[in-house]
Amino acid sequence: MSKNSIKPVIADADAINHAADLLRRGRLVAFPTETVYGLGADAGNPEAVAAIFKAKGRPTDHPLIVHIADIDSLGDWAATVPEAALKLAHRFWPGPLAMILNKKAGVSPTVTGGQQTVGLRMPDHLVALALLKSFGGGIAAPSANRFCRISPTQALHVSEELADAVDMILDGGACRVGVESTIIDLSGGKPRLLRPGHITQQQIEAVLQIELLTPSTPAAPAPEISEEIRAPGMMAVHYAPATPAMRCRAELLPDRIQHLTAAGKKIGVLNYRLDIAETGQVRILRLPEQAASYAQSFYTALRELDNLQLDIILIEQPPQTEAWRAINDRLGKAAAL
Ligand code: TXA
Ligand code: MG
Repeated sequence: MSKNSIKPVIADADAINHAADLLRRGRLVAFPTETVYGLGADAGNPEAVAAIFKAKGRPTDHPLIVHIADIDSLGDWAATVPEAALKLAHRFWPGPLAMILNKKAGVSPTVTGGQQTVGLRMPDHLVALALLKSFGGGIAAPSANRFCRISPTQALHVSEELADAVDMILDGGACRVGVESTIIDLSGGKPRLLRPGHITQQQIEAVLQIELLTPSTPAAPAPEISEEIRAPGMMAVHYAPATPAMRCRAELLPDRIQHLTAAGKKIGVLNYRLDIAETGQVRILRLPEQAASYAQSFYTALRELDNLQLDIILIEQPPQTEAWRAINDRLGKAAAL
């Protein structure tokens, strides 16, 4: 049966109860969280979880985060709940922090991508929490985009990409945080930060009173523009599908724009500080100067520019400070969205 043209529905109590019912029947429901929209399925139903991978076109060895309604539910999914996990949950949940713990024996390898660990998060969004409560179990949910595309921060983004693959889209407005959760691995040894997000390394270190290990590969520096901007591996944002996107330091931006316009290119610019004039060839989207507000509108802006059939998107390089770390991480990320 075709699921063609599923439109977002306002997430009132009836819609949420209906969505929970769909989840119980093994169907897929997209729902808002404070970070990005998730593509949800019953985490206890391997067939339903398998449908997520199919809908996204995501390799089945990429583990999913299980969303839970409360801290007590940690014990339903984790073999043991370390003290550190409890401390972080009490400080940051509900909120944009996912924790990787050793999985309980019964947790399906479909959810964990075959790993012995499971990702867990209690989202800070009224709709997500109401859905979890009404459903009564864990909801496995990656970001509700096709594999390697930009994460959705509005219900409309989900229907643009997944309307034919999802059974219901709950509309809860634009996401407050705008980038995916911070992920910390607490599955053994020293805690390690796996993905930077709104909750910073320092905030976590302050709670745990311990220095975190960080991902082994540092974010790549902004590449210089060259003639081979379309060569694979040169793009700052591999997941901006139609349009090559590159970071550019503010002081170089005006020259780069001039150079590319002279070459007849249509350019999109994501700036946040520099004043740049818009022309027929140059579309400017200015984001807020404050990192948290920038993050909130970042994916929407990128999506908007990507829809304009431009030749290139230039992104004014933000500072390399802790406040901007999650954004710099997403800018430098080649894939894995
Ligand atoms: O903010 C978020 O976390 C959003 C919303 C919907 O909650 N979800 C999200 O899911 O970003 P996803 O699947 O797009 O990204 C989850 C990341 C993936 O990179 C995955 O590899 C990692 O979490 N992950 C999940 N379980 C893991 C595990 N057991 N071990 C290591 N990494 C894991
Ligand atoms: Mg994702």
